[in-house]
Amino acid sequence: MTRDRGDSGHASKGLLPPDGGPSIREFKHPEAPIEWIKRLDDPDREYNDAFVYEVRIASQEYALKVFKFSNPKSNPFYWGTRLRERLPLKQAIFYTDPFYAECRAYGRIEDGRVDRHSRMPRVRQQIAVKCHGYLLLDDSDKNWLLDRGHDLETDLLDNDVHEALEGDTRVRAIVKHLDKRPSLLHAGNIGRAWTSVHLLNKSLKIYNMDIKADNFIGFRLVDFGSSWTEPHEILRYLDETRERVGRNKRGRDRENFDDMIEEEEIPTRLKVVPTSRYQLRSRGEAPWAGRELPKRRRTMTGHE
Ligand SMILES: Nc1ncnc2c1ncn2[C@@H]1O[C@H](COP(=O)(O)OP(=O)(O)OP(=O)(O)O)[C@@H](O)[C@H]1O
Ligand SMILES: [Mg+2]
Repeated sequence: MTRDRGDSGHASKGLLPPDGGPSIREFKHPEAPIEWIKRLDDPDREYNDAFVYEVRIASQEYALKVFKFSNPKSNPFYWGTRLRERLPLKQAIFYTDPFYAECRAYGRIEDGRVDRHSRMPRVRQQIAVKCHGYLLLDDSDKNWLLDRGHDLETDLLDNDVHEALEGDTRVRAIVKHLDKRPSLLHAGNIGRAWTSVHLLNKSLKIYNMDIKADNFIGFRLVDFGSSWTEPHEILRYLDETRERVGRNKRGRDRENFDDMIEEEEIPTRLKVVPTSRYQLRSRGEAPWAGRELPKRRRTMTGHE
C-alpha cells in the first residue's frame, strides 16, 4: 500500500532530540510516499514499544521502526524519584522515551566517539544495523497503522507530553537498513556480538539495557529502544544518590549477555562476567556464604 505524503505540509524538525546531545538527522526523503510491504517483528509479542515494517521509499527497501508514544510519568526512575523536581518533563522525555533513546544511541554510534576530543577509533556501523535517520509520519500513514489495529498509545499524550513535544504529535519512526534474511546468533558470531556490546559500553558509553537474541541481527544490535546513552540525566542522578544502582545499570548488558548465551543454548565457552560474580548473582548466595571457612590443613612439617 502506498500513501501519498506530498500534500501534508511537511515540517522538518532538524536534529532529534533537539537538546544538543547525541542526535540523528531526518531521513533523506521525508516527503516520499511510504509503501508498506510487510510486518517484520513478531505480532504475538506480549509488549512492545514499536512496530517494524518492511517498506519501500523512493524505490529503495528499508526496515521502518514505528514508535508508540510514551509518558515520562510512567518511568519510576524519573517520576518515582526526586529527579522529577529538578528535570523538567520537556527534557525528561529525551531520557525516557524509546524513540529518543534510539535517536540518542544512533547519534552516538554515527558519531563514533563520546566527545570531539576523544581518541577512540570510529566504530560506526560495525556494531549496529545501519540507521538512515528518523521519519515523521503523516496522518494517512498513521490512520493506516491504526486501521491495522496498532495501538500507538496516543492516550499517553497528556497536556504535559503535548507541551514537551511542542504540539507536534506526528508518529515517529526510524529508518534502518533492511536485512532480508536476518541471521541469528550462533557459536561462530557470538564473539563478535560481544565485541559489539563491549564497544558500545566502553567506547561509546551506550548501555543497551535489553540484550537478548531478538535484538541482534547477526552480530549487530538492532534495538536501542531501552538504551541509555551518556551523558544521561537518570544515570547522573543515580550516580549521585544510589551509586550502586548506577553501577549495576552500567553492568547490566554484560550480565544479560551471559544469560542470553545460556537461554539460547549457544555452544560457546565465552562467559563475559567472571564466574564467581555470575554465580553469586544468578544462583543466589554460595552454599558456604556466612559460614566459617574450614581451617587450612597442616602440612607434614606442622607449618600452615
Ligand atoms: N533492520 C531490520 N531488518 C530486518 N528485520 C528487522 C530489522 N529491524 C528489526 N527487525 C525485526 O523486527 C524485530 C523487532 O525489532 P526491534 O527489536 O528493533 O523492535 P522492538 O522490539 O519492537 O522494540 P522495543 O524493544 O523498543 O519494543 C527484530 O527482532 C527483527 O526480527
Ligand atoms: Mg526488540
